Amino acid sequence: MFFRSATRFASALSVVCGLGFVGAAPAVGGQTLSISCGAVGVELELCKAGVAAWSEGKDVDVEIVSTPNSSTERLALYQQILAAQGDDIDILQIDVVWPGILAPHLVDMTTYDPKAGSGHFPALIENNTVDGALLALPWWTDAGVLYYRVDLLARHGFEAPTTWTEMTEIAQTVMAAERADGDTDIWGFVWQGKAYEGLTCNALEWLDSSGGGTIVADDGSVTVNNPGAVEALSLAASWVGDISPEGVLNYDEEAARGVFQSGNAVFMRNWPYAWALAQSEESSIKGKVGVVALPKGNGTSGSHTGTLGGWNLAVSKYSKNPELAVDLATFLTGQAQQKARAISSSYNPTYPALYEDQEVLTANPFFGTLKETFTNAVARPSEIVGDK
Ligand code: GLC
Repeated sequence: MFFRSATRFASALSVVCGLGFVGAAPAVGGQTLSISCGAVGVELELCKAGVAAWSEGKDVDVEIVSTPNSSTERLALYQQILAAQGDDIDILQIDVVWPGILAPHLVDMTTYDPKAGSGHFPALIENNTVDGALLALPWWTDAGVLYYRVDLLARHGFEAPTTWTEMTEIAQTVMAAERADGDTDIWGFVWQGKAYEGLTCNALEWLDSSGGGTIVADDGSVTVNNPGAVEALSLAASWVGDISPEGVLNYDEEAARGVFQSGNAVFMRNWPYAWALAQSEESSIKGKVGVVALPKGNGTSGSHTGTLGGWNLAVSKYSKNPELAVDLATFLTGQAQQKARAISSSYNPTYPALYEDQEVLTANPFFGTLKETFTNAVARPSEIVGDK
């Protein structure tokens, strides 16, 4: 059973790389499940720990499948497996922008658990509900934020920036001064510039924060040709080779984090998960990091914004054990698991109640100070564009 599915899976992989089985082969006798998890930051470790906690005392063997870090590549892999109606993966970690695209292949969680979805942010449940069916349980939510080096800004007499123009100028000044001082590796700003979903998220922030629309409006019209968007994109283009290395055009989340966490950037755009890692013992910048809302454009219509991201657990219609799969997904996305993940690794919970939790807020002060960013994050136009 394990080898059969692994082989089929491997063939799906001929087009998408980066996947590997990390769970143990199932023992004879018990039931089996497989779950796909991401591996950005500590996602995979947390997934393994959560699965181990659920499995304790159960005669179920769970294979953990690590999928490509790029959201774009992961979607291609899922689409290939699901189109073939493969039962390779029972539980899929799906992006907040995918419920509409994957809807035909996912079970309605409420069929197996009438209480499914209760206690989560209603907007996320609404996002995951297609034609009245709740297709995925929210696992963590995301919004883009700006990380900065508190020590470097203080050394050069700056506060955290409010506008993109200010950020650009501070980055230029600090970078030039630090380089003149001998730190020749330092850059001003790192972000996600590779051609994939992460760049879409960054670009949406530049546009929305400059009053430049959200690419496609709710009525389906393309809105990108406007002065706010021109201002935002012109400034972003000017960063490459100036405050950002040319290589930023190949950066994903982890590449940007690598540069920032090793002390080689003044500013970084990333998701909240980078906080716990930047503050960890292994980090060169522990205790030197601040997090604020992303800057806004110069015009009056600009506002601080962050793209809504986040991941959910869905169960495949082709699963042979959908009830058991929903049970594992429910456990992993439950409050206790989310609280632990928030405290250890700064994954934003999808339960409003956990934003009142003192232990969660102490571990992640910006969950409190940036509440506005998390509750008003800008959505990608996935609902209106559907699978186009
Ligand atoms: C993060 C977000 C996800 C987004 C992805 C892009 O994982 O949570 O929604 O699509 O980044 O790289």
